[in-house]
Amino acid sequence: MSWDEAFAIRYEEWSARMTADVAFYVGLARRTDGPLVELAVGNGRVAIPVALATGRRVIGVDASPAMLSQARTRAAEEGVDLDLHEGDMRDLSLDEPAGLIYCPFGSLLHLPTWADRRRAFERVAGSLRPDGRFAWNALAFDHHLAARLDGQHQDEPVPHTVRFAVGDNRIDLVQDDGATSSRWWATKNEWFGHIDVAGLEVESLHGGFAGEPFTDESREYVFVVRRRGPAGS
Ligand SMILES: C[S@@+](CC[C@H](N)C(=O)[O-])C[C@H]1O[C@@H](n2cnc3c(N)ncnc32)[C@H](O)[C@@H]1O
Repeated sequence: MSWDEAFAIRYEEWSARMTADVAFYVGLARRTDGPLVELAVGNGRVAIPVALATGRRVIGVDASPAMLSQARTRAAEEGVDLDLHEGDMRDLSLDEPAGLIYCPFGSLLHLPTWADRRRAFERVAGSLRPDGRFAWNALAFDHHLAARLDGQHQDEPVPHTVRFAVGDNRIDLVQDDGATSSRWWATKNEWFGHIDVAGLEVESLHGGFAGEPFTDESREYVFVVRRRGPAGS
């Protein structure tokens, strides 16, 4: 299980420091025509500002009833329209092709295997308008950080311990009450493999949300991809 429902209880505190991505996804949504879709929408942390900034309804898919319930409450408080669906991003199915599908905060890493992610990418590619885009960000595994953090207890943002299972390329975030969120890190070549196999192509890869170039020192992948045109186009 990659996402423990108990992790939802303190998610707002957990994610409070993650703000840098919001303007990035809002900016993409502003220059997009057609439906806007967030995969793994969670409590609406990004979808609500996107809906507020664009004045458009955002479709959100998430597997967690607890997170969706928070998203409903927050959207009502902000007076925005989210079209929320409980479901698995591997089974994405839209009534109308999307202009933008996005997946913030490394949520694609909750899918444990290459096959799971391939399925999600294929669903995304099949759900985009011809000019549509798919955007996501995810951590780049940092062995220095892993060596420093593995097994260490941390008090912030919520008391927890990080554990690295290198053989399974997995990071477990275990809160003191046992609530656990697991993510499986991916390399740049794995991302390029998914993009290729799904019939997509890279529009941009940056090392941060402010357009930093992606280099050997980058610790974050920020991808924007689109459907690949016919060969020779
Ligand atoms: C780190 S939270 C991100 C929430 C929100 N997008 C944000 O940026 O704050 C990860 C979310 O992924 C969802 N999730 C995990 N696996 C999923 C799956 N297979 N399909 C849909 N949602 C999934 C969890 O329920 C959780 O809400």
